[in-house]
Amino acid sequence: MTETVTTLNRLDVIESLMRQKKLKNYLEIGVANGHIFFRVKSPFKLAVDPAFSFDRLRRIGKALINPANLANQYFEKTSDAFFAEDADRVIGKKPLQLALIDGMHEYQFALRDVENTLRYLSDDGVIILHDCNPLTPGAAVPYDEWVEGQWNGDVWKTILHLRSQRPDLNVFVLDTDQGLGIVTRRKPETVLNFTPAQIDALSYDDLAKNRAHWLNLKSPEYFYTYFGVEK
Ligand SMILES: C[S@@+](CC[C@H](N)C(=O)[O-])C[C@H]1O[C@@H](n2cnc3c(N)ncnc32)[C@H](O)[C@@H]1O
Repeated sequence: MTETVTTLNRLDVIESLMRQKKLKNYLEIGVANGHIFFRVKSPFKLAVDPAFSFDRLRRIGKALINPANLANQYFEKTSDAFFAEDADRVIGKKPLQLALIDGMHEYQFALRDVENTLRYLSDDGVIILHDCNPLTPGAAVPYDEWVEGQWNGDVWKTILHLRSQRPDLNVFVLDTDQGLGIVTRRKPETVLNFTPAQIDALSYDDLAKNRAHWLNLKSPEYFYTYFGVEK
């Protein structure tokens, strides 16, 4: 009998790829308190967030627990400012291998984060896009309308955009942990045909009716098959 993956979260995905693919660097956009960032074992880590929820003491404490944190570089600014002001110098000619995009959960913001990250991503690099699969209308509203509870925004529209406009990328969403979008430079298995204007006009109800098809939704198991990594 095949073993079923009941839980798989972004940290599992990051750790599996880091360890088994021997990746050497990591970018996280939207870091908050560093719940994920500080756990990642990589000798070159970049943290970008306009409002980190930790101070110098926590950084030092985390370096004691995980020595990989000694060399961390922190950019307390928006991702747009990071890419405009720092990325060329900091990333230089050593392409990124893994990035978690988890900053402002709105279509155009997440799209810019993906497109900017792609400028620095190695040919076999991987982008993980968090919050791609909102399960309620309340979780999918724009930031200004968000009241309480889970907020995924409309990052799902970024997935539709990439699947429609970027035939050089393979994009799917793992049906776990709020929807983990996976972006790689591989031939897409299937594509969509939306224009950006059409995507803008779509509603949560439209997503709910077409979720599996539009998001190219995959079971968590698919992660292991796609990347050829072990559980
Ligand atoms: C959901 S939290 C990130 C959680 C974290 N990645 C984790 O997995 O634990 C979102 C973060 O994005 C940050 N953020 C908001 N707008 C941003 C922007 N324009 N650029 C980068 N980060 C942003 C917020 O300050 C917040 O800390």
